[in-house]
Amino acid sequence: MKIKSAEFIISNSEVAKCPKDMLPEYAFIGRSNVGKSSLINMLTNQKNLAKTSGKPGKTQLINHFLINKNWFLVDLPGYGYARVSKSTKKIFQKFITNYFEKRKQLVCAFVLVDCRHEPQKIDTEFMEWLGVNQIPFNIIFTKADKLKPQALKRNISKYQEILLETWEECPQHFITSSSDYRGKEELLNYIEEINQS
Ligand code: GTP
Ligand code: MG
Repeated sequence: MKIKSAEFIISNSEVAKCPKDMLPEYAFIGRSNVGKSSLINMLTNQKNLAKTSGKPGKTQLINHFLINKNWFLVDLPGYGYARVSKSTKKIFQKFITNYFEKRKQLVCAFVLVDCRHEPQKIDTEFMEWLGVNQIPFNIIFTKADKLKPQALKRNISKYQEILLETWEECPQHFITSSSDYRGKEELLNYIEEINQS
C-alpha cells in the first residue's frame, strides 16, 4: 500500500472523545520505549508525525493519525512502569484498557516487543488479557537492526516457545526496524488486505 497522506487528528485520554468516524483502525501498544511512535513515523514516511524520545514515557495519550483519509493508526502510551501483579488494572493504565474494551472501530492491535529482549511477563500477560477480551492482535518484533539475523531468529523462537505454553498457536508476527525500514511493505500490505476484505 502507498501512503498518500498521514495527518494527526487528535490526542486524548478518553475513549469517548476519540474520532466518531467508523473507519477501520489499528493500534500500536507495548512497553515504553519499544518503538511504537517511531514505527508510525517509519510507516508514514514522516520524521515527526508521532513524537518519539530516547526516554521511556514520551507518548502519554491516545493519538489518532488518519491515513490515506480512510483508516486510522493509533499511537498509545507504553505500559511497563507499574509492577507486575495479577490485577491488569494495576499493570496497565485504565484508559488504555478502556480503549481496547470500548473502541468498536479497532480492527486489531499490534503488540510491539523489542526483539533484543527475553520474553517479558508484562507483554505475555497483556497478550493474555487481549485474548480473554477477544481482541485480535499480532506481534511486531521491533529494532531488528540491532541484532544479527541468527540472534533475531533465536529470540523469536524463544518467544514463540513461551507463547505456546498459553496459546494453541502463535499469533502472526512481523519484524520491523524504523532505522532500516524493514517490515514496512509487509505491514502496510497486511493492513491493506484487511481494509479491502
Ligand atoms: P513511549 O512513547 O515512551 O511508550 O515509547 P515508544 O514505544 O513510542 O518508543 P519511541 O518510538 O519513542 O522510541 C524509543 C527509542 O527507541 C527512540 O530513541 C528511538 O529512536 C528508538 N527506536 C525506535 N525504533 C527503533 C528501531 O527500529 N531501531 C533502532 N535502532 N532504534 C529505534
Ligand atoms: Mg511513543
